[in-house]
Amino acid sequence: MKRWAAIGLWCVSALLIVGATVGVATTGGASGEPPPQPSVEHSGVFRDGAVAADQLEASKAGAEILVAGGNAADAAAATMLALGVLNPASSGFGGGGFALYYCVKEDKLTFLDFRERAPAAATPDMFENFQGATPPGPAASPSQLGGLAAGVPGEPAGIAALVDRFGSMSLSEVIGPALRLAEEGFPVSPTLAAMGAAFKVQLDQDPVMSKWDLAPGAVLRRPSLAHVLRVFAKEGMKALYNGPLGREMAAVVQKHGGIMTFQDLRDYRVVTRKPLEVDLFGYRWVTAPPPSAGGFTMLQSLTILERVVGAKPVYGASLLHTMAESWKGPFVDRQRYFGDPAQIIQPLDRMMSPGRIEKRAALAGGEKANPADAYDFPIVWTSPAARTSDNAGTSHLCVVDVEGNVAAVTTTVNRPFGARFTAAGIVMNDEMDDFASGVGESNAFGLVGGAPNLPGPRKRPVSTMSPTIVFKDGKPVLCVGASGGSRIVTATQQVAMNILLLGMDAGHAVDAPRIHHQGFPEKLRVETMMPLDDSLQDDLRARGHVIEPIRNVANVQAIQIVTEPERRLHAASDPRKGGSPAGH
Ligand code: DON
Repeated sequence: MKRWAAIGLWCVSALLIVGATVGVATTGGASGEPPPQPSVEHSGVFRDGAVAADQLEASKAGAEILVAGGNAADAAAATMLALGVLNPASSGFGGGGFALYYCVKEDKLTFLDFRERAPAAATPDMFENFQGATPPGPAASPSQLGGLAAGVPGEPAGIAALVDRFGSMSLSEVIGPALRLAEEGFPVSPTLAAMGAAFKVQLDQDPVMSKWDLAPGAVLRRPSLAHVLRVFAKEGMKALYNGPLGREMAAVVQKHGGIMTFQDLRDYRVVTRKPLEVDLFGYRWVTAPPPSAGGFTMLQSLTILERVVGAKPVYGASLLHTMAESWKGPFVDRQRYFGDPAQIIQPLDRMMSPGRIEKRAALAGGEKANPADAYDFPIVWTSPAARTSDNAGTSHLCVVDVEGNVAAVTTTVNRPFGARFTAAGIVMNDEMDDFASGVGESNAFGLVGGAPNLPGPRKRPVSTMSPTIVFKDGKPVLCVGASGGSRIVTATQQVAMNILLLGMDAGHAVDAPRIHHQGFPEKLRVETMMPLDDSLQDDLRARGHVIEPIRNVANVQAIQIVTEPERRLHAASDPRKGGSPAGH
């Protein structure tokens, strides 16, 4: 039996259809170090509305709003707010992200970019020429720790935009579950406990985080965040960008050596963008545009795959090999061409031109693995000892409501606990590490930095976040996305393919072992948490791939919308991070 099939047996989907109450797929046990126990019920089937977040309490927060009559935008906002309380290692008011929203009444897709952006005083060499000392503890470079690491947060503006533009409730209503969690407290999850232990030496330096008891199961209350939530409920986005909390945030960032000013906060804006869309394999795939490179990577890979393997792919070494090859070209493109679309021209059409795809498909369809440079002329790469990162920061959630609205949201403070200091009670992001610290330098995820992605005033750094909605005959059939740095996109694509092209149900599709290749380094990553069958690994080695085990390839949440014979929402949260969905 294939090893992933065996894993699938212990991950039986729970059929949960409940009337007007919030049903949950019972807590999965998988998270943290050492390798977790498999989750038994990390998936569920719901009739009216569903939320798949990477933590059960967050899914429940969103589902509570759905049951109270909120729509997918309200529930997504409530889930984001709850996640910010429950897991400050992954996301929160001090971070930012992307939301892809499908409004069924208008049959309209909107992409909200509420990503952090660089302060106005940012310069291309601010990290390369940094002269200061490196403090103790992990992830301690100036783009990852301290004031310079923090971009201007977008999360409060993103949540406000989601609710203002698409929601049916007020901010004070959607804030309810998060406020309750912050005031009454909640048990620390194994994921948060593991991250707390890993970064303890740095959290101990912060007046707020040093007081947290992050032992697994300890009850954590967040009174300072509860205060911020109350002000936000009353005043909306200006609470954090244009009032005393914003002033305090800028002052604390500067105290930590940063360059963010109150004016940077006042100037912050959410950007509405046109998502990327392509018809492939009989579906319409809609995903993140730049400044994400993730959406482009997935669409180019799928385009190549359709050409090489045909409309009906079959699981096996040949598919995995072609998939790994199909990612190498877009990761080269990422280094060469991607940056903030407001500041540079990205020739996406030319990058997807038939001639270019043809050449790449011919290479990817060969028997042997190719060096990434074969897909284009060599890129600049000066730091081959790429730093690698755990999949701990960032959170992806999917929501589908009773009307059929869909929200796919990926939100992040980047690395665990972001820049590892709090300002106004909020954990600040280290999203500046998503810029190139220098041309050819690798970032936390081993992504090679290119000139278009050097830091600059008000620039948004290139991301891999890829919230995705897939349509069949004009109707949404899948919401999917992931957390996990550079692996976000490869994981998102594999789970989508598992469901739509390989016929797996959502639970098994999320469980199944995944692979990852990002061109540089020349390594095909396989998971230790969900090991790929040995014979497949041998076959891939024989094709010339250098296999390197890593703990896991990202954390994926997904909701499949099934309409035959009756409408059902098949929701799954990744056992790798220990989440469970909820719904009604
Ligand atoms: O935007 C990005 O691509 C990154 N900041 C995401 C970081 C992430 O997923 C961290 N988790 N491993």
